[in-house]
Amino acid sequence: MKILIASRNRGKIAELRELLGAYIDSSNLELVSLDDVGFEGEIEENGTTFEENALIKAKAAAAFSGLISVADDSGLEVKALGGEPGVYSARYAGEGHDDAANNEKLLRNLHGVRDREAAFVCCMACVFPENAPLQGEPIVVTGKCVGEILCCPRGEGGFGYDPLFWFDPFGKTFAEMDKTEKNSISHRGEAVKQLGIALDEKIRVQKELLWRKYGL
Ligand code: IMP
Repeated sequence: MKILIASRNRGKIAELRELLGAYIDSSNLELVSLDDVGFEGEIEENGTTFEENALIKAKAAAAFSGLISVADDSGLEVKALGGEPGVYSARYAGEGHDDAANNEKLLRNLHGVRDREAAFVCCMACVFPENAPLQGEPIVVTGKCVGEILCCPRGEGGFGYDPLFWFDPFGKTFAEMDKTEKNSISHRGEAVKQLGIALDEKIRVQKELLWRKYGL
């Protein structure tokens, strides 16, 4: 089964292959990227929620390719900031600014704030176009990881807001964890797990239907 991951990020695709492989028989699974199917345009993420953005991207990829398509949208929600930066996490400090500028803005906005609870959220959508080997309504799942925003960065690894995101059960920031540790508790790890379980169940039901209908 071929699944299009609506991304150009090779690292993200390799990571998804590894993580999804734990839930779906990976000998039956081929993950391809937007580049692999010749999609050259940009998909505008103009939704107001992670779920809307993930569905916009997955639907556009499925319409272009005719393949089962998966897209994700993720970001950081800070309680004391009413859920900011949310869907604007990548461009919190403005278009063209980097992770360091986003982190600086976050620290400025939280200056003097005592309640520093925050959550990383990842929404994943999987869309089944007509004539694809699996059919039905889109699967939409959400993974969440709750932590706190520190007053200054810690750790060298990761990306984005990782150096500011403290995960108390491990006594580390995301930037101080290795990949396996982060995947085991992260918003993305949780969303992939839910998607893998839902897809595996869908494949099982489909096989049973074919078996009943045609004895296949
Ligand atoms: P994307 O939807 O996965 O591209 O994530 C959008 C933005 O959210 C990123 O550019 C980061 O600023 C932030 N973000 C999402 N996931 C993480 C994470 O695991 N660590 C740090 N920042 C993240």
